[in-house]
Amino acid sequence: MAVIVRVLGSAAGGGVPQWNCACDGCTAARRAGIDRTQDSVAVSGDGAAWYLINASPDIRAQLLAAEVLRPGPGRRDTPVRGVLLTTAEVDHTAGLLSLREAVHLEVYGTATVLSAVPLIPMLGRYTDLRLGELPATLEGGLTVRSLTVGTKVPRYARPDCGTDWVSALRITDDRTGRAFVYATCLPGWTDRFDAFLEGADVALLDGTFLDADEPARVAGLVRTPREMGHLPIADARAALARHPGTRALFGHLNNTNPLAVTAAPGVTADGSVLLEE
Ligand code: MLT
Ligand code: MN
Ligand code: ZN
Repeated sequence: MAVIVRVLGSAAGGGVPQWNCACDGCTAARRAGIDRTQDSVAVSGDGAAWYLINASPDIRAQLLAAEVLRPGPGRRDTPVRGVLLTTAEVDHTAGLLSLREAVHLEVYGTATVLSAVPLIPMLGRYTDLRLGELPATLEGGLTVRSLTVGTKVPRYARPDCGTDWVSALRITDDRTGRAFVYATCLPGWTDRFDAFLEGADVALLDGTFLDADEPARVAGLVRTPREMGHLPIADARAALARHPGTRALFGHLNNTNPLAVTAAPGVTADGSVLLEE
């Protein structure tokens, strides 16, 4: 077996195109018929038990579009066992309530994230909810480790929930040692992240912005990518030279990023399977 990874959505918050956005990127996406839904990935160790990395506001459409996540054979059987949260941001958690029909659901995250997300106690009124702090062992032979990479507090959240706001995940198949690293919100490339990535087969990295000037150049924004908690692709590529054995892909693409409307190599398209044996 392996780590099976399916990209359900590859856009940053709002998606590409965003419903109320007439920027060049969203306009080009509309013209080209491109619809990138918001950042989410499904992973499985055995092809039977699947876990979502983050619950995007687009989750219902993403679940319906993924054949491997179809329900059955029993009336309420589903391959979806749970959700691994890497942030408490709205674009990573709003979909939780759309899972309320589940009979059981596991939700994993840091203690900070689990205590911050107001939808979690709500969800617990609808389904048999099992919360777990990372690290975790998943059904199907996968192990999940997390590394806190950022401390950006979502706009709605109470800062006193803790400090582990933004995580990278390393998902390993216990039998083969093959590993997938997910880090679509990566404010900077630290030595600790470098060690966390070491030996991974595939990494899905922060593709929010292509380069440091992009927010200013394309949208007239004052804040830099790093100030927004997103290391630009150009900076990550330099660090990736130290990891020649790791295949790097980029997700969470913002509508300012020209790659969001192209099919450039290394930029994920929704629905692609990244690492399968
Ligand atoms: C982010 O990725 O930085 C957040 O989702 C931004 C936001 O939605 O406020
Ligand atoms: Mn986001
Ligand atoms: Zn736009």
